Amino acid sequence: MDHLLGIDVGTTGVKAVLVRPDGSVAGEVATEHPLSVLRPGWAEQNPDDWYAAATASIRRVLDEAEVSGSEVAAVGLTGQMHGLVLLDGHGRPLRPAILWNDQRTAAECREITARIGAERLIAVTGKPALTGFTAGKLLWMRRNEPALFARGATVLLPKDSVRHRLTGVLATDVSDASGTNLFEVGARRWSTEIAEALGVPAAWLPEVFESRTVCAAVSGAAAAETGLLAGTPVVAGAGDQAAQALGTGIEGPGVVSVTIGTSGVVFAATGRYTPDPSGALHAYCHASPGRWHLMGVTLAAGGSLRWFRDALCAREKAEAEEEGRDVYDLLTDEAAWVPPGAEGLLFLPYLSGERTPHADPDARGVFFGLSLRHGRGHLTRAILEGVAMSLRDGLALLAPLGVTFDRLRLSGGGSRSVLWRQVLADMFAKPVVEVSVAQGASFGAALLAGVGVRLFPDVAEACRCTIRETGVTKPGPDAEFYDRLYPRYRALYPALREEFARLATIPEI
Ligand code: XUL
Repeated sequence: MDHLLGIDVGTTGVKAVLVRPDGSVAGEVATEHPLSVLRPGWAEQNPDDWYAAATASIRRVLDEAEVSGSEVAAVGLTGQMHGLVLLDGHGRPLRPAILWNDQRTAAECREITARIGAERLIAVTGKPALTGFTAGKLLWMRRNEPALFARGATVLLPKDSVRHRLTGVLATDVSDASGTNLFEVGARRWSTEIAEALGVPAAWLPEVFESRTVCAAVSGAAAAETGLLAGTPVVAGAGDQAAQALGTGIEGPGVVSVTIGTSGVVFAATGRYTPDPSGALHAYCHASPGRWHLMGVTLAAGGSLRWFRDALCAREKAEAEEEGRDVYDLLTDEAAWVPPGAEGLLFLPYLSGERTPHADPDARGVFFGLSLRHGRGHLTRAILEGVAMSLRDGLALLAPLGVTFDRLRLSGGGSRSVLWRQVLADMFAKPVVEVSVAQGASFGAALLAGVGVRLFPDVAEACRCTIRETGVTKPGPDAEFYDRLYPRYRALYPALREEFARLATIPEI
């Protein structure tokens, strides 16, 4: 039988998923890879580690599902977006990749804005220059590592560097290219205007394809490393957020999704290019021809809860492991006993700086209102609510751009918590709906592979045939309370903004 292989080059690991054409999942394997944080606010990974994790995941998923390479019809790639991989003329990475959540490029972002003009940049690329995006990372390298920069030959995004190792082909897709600040999102092509103005050689930008287009094939060497057949078609694929949306069934306008992974994402597909003139929401090409999407990102969503677990709940983690329980269940069970509003405790989830709605690399996490009354359950509840309020900030930006919705599709690790689902439904005052597929981005990438080899006629049909809505969580009586709490949360960032900036000027921090 024809299987489709989706590969997601994530921030914590590489996931490989084998999908049958009826949408059922034949196997799923993840292999972790390390993250290096050399200084606060920096985040790097070694592209060789991605490839090693990808080959390990592919081998294991084929093995565990007892599927042979000859039964894989096509491969789709997705992955963390925005990361800079700069290759030399021999196709070797010149340095570790600088990732999406790295905040080192504030000065370069100011430079980009000054050179292009804020309005023009948003009109062309769909977004302002922000530290997460790729162009600033290139300018940072030029300023700080000029000898390495001078040897540059090709700019790749994380999933594209894995494609290069798998197939020998240098290529990207329209959705991932949209996250570079170098792409003309409305026209779905590289912006020669912006590349020239920033001094980025156009020859460094790889060929760009629609996401469902077959643009490469597995090489003989990669076949030996993975167990796939040489010549297996590889589609262009998509950035992880576009692929995640497809894996949740969001192809065209009408439904909005919220995903809680490490980051939290508000996502709305649109039928035309609608950049947000305020620059708070960001416009991208969607992974389906003739579709775009708007997106807002809370950088530390599930990441806030993970930080809390790792920094402050070591004992609970050990206890949960001993009892064979998930430590997140233990923490959220405690939080469920705490009333909404956590008895006066608010949390700002800006642990990695923030992107939406406050694009501010200096912003930091805050517990506000701590008292002797508060225990661990209150802290957990405040984190769930603070992340929900940050996502509400993102959703509120959709209406002025003409996007209306009456329910939300929810996905990502955070959607597994019954309490978090209820907090989100109450906070948004809208039903939140889960879907039948839990694999998200890697599943979306597999669907694109299926469209590429014509197992599905188009992307919309691929979603329709394989994904359906399952559980619904409706807003309850706490929705009204959250309406009163939300303005208190909204007031905190403006009150602290200048102090965040001052704190960041202390060199030891
Ligand atoms: C999207 C973004 C993150 C990364 C990490 O714009 O920055 O979601 O793609 O997965």
